[in-house]
Amino acid sequence: MIKINEIPNNEEPRKKIMSKLEPYLGKTGPAMAPSESSFISSLLQVYRPQKILEVGIDAGGTTAIVLQVLEDMNMPYEMHSVDLAQKMTNGKDIGYLPKCVKENNLLITPSRSTLCGTHEFHLGKYLPQVIDKIGGDINFVILDTVHYTPGELLDFLVMLPYLKDSAIVVLHDVALNQLNNKYHKPDAHATGLLFSAVVAEEKFLNYEPTGKYPNIGAFRISKQTYDNIENVFLALMLTWHYLPEDDEITIYRNFYNRYYPAKLVEIFDETVRLNRNNIAFKK
Ligand SMILES: C[S@@+](CC[C@H](N)C(=O)[O-])C[C@H]1O[C@@H](n2cnc3c(N)ncnc32)[C@H](O)[C@@H]1O
Repeated sequence: MIKINEIPNNEEPRKKIMSKLEPYLGKTGPAMAPSESSFISSLLQVYRPQKILEVGIDAGGTTAIVLQVLEDMNMPYEMHSVDLAQKMTNGKDIGYLPKCVKENNLLITPSRSTLCGTHEFHLGKYLPQVIDKIGGDINFVILDTVHYTPGELLDFLVMLPYLKDSAIVVLHDVALNQLNNKYHKPDAHATGLLFSAVVAEEKFLNYEPTGKYPNIGAFRISKQTYDNIENVFLALMLTWHYLPEDDEITIYRNFYNRYYPAKLVEIFDETVRLNRNNIAFKK
């Protein structure tokens, strides 16, 4: 069932951690819009997860905000942040904002000298290469990586067996293809496609304060998500925006073979074969 505008607005955690970072880094803005950070902060406060997985870090503005929310909730947590890169395109370290937060103890308060939980980076690897180390019982995910197909669809299929019942999955850029900006093409719709294909107990969308359709969404998984996971494999049958390298395909394919029925792995093999032969990729 879709839930529109039911997640409360809360921009405070973002303001709080960004103002603490300002003396060290100057004025710095997270990649997400304030309303998008607010959506994530409120979902965390409503669902109070213990184990959080973030895939796609970049500067780590969202990581820093999430850590602030978790510390403010004053309960134990375990957070893992995964990124394929180690450096951003501007040469700075991936996750340099939360690194600065940690190095300067910006989450420590006068009343508490240690953190309530742990945070670990997993850099330079694909999700299937680190998910066993991260382990199961994940109950909150933020997925924000490539935006183009196959992109996030591949990683959702990796994380699903490691999610706890009723886990919340947040997808950024669910309407990126409609933003008409010069940086993104009209087929930047990997998370939008996943959001529409996945079967979930609830899907959440908060319209922008201006009334505009949001660029962030979330869903709560259930048994139905597993029972209808073929929808996500079938979504991969659309023409891909890019062809992953053969070794990347092998890593994902071997992983799916561990968790999904042979008939779904065959659909994956078939879409790899068809996309490799698709006229879209013929020079
Ligand atoms: C849009 S940025 C993430 C922004 C971040 N979520 C935030 O709110 O600040 C996308 C990130 O995904 C990473 N990335 C791209 N492909 C990836 C993949 N297959 N697995 C993990 N990370 C990936 C990029 O290196 C980049 O840091």
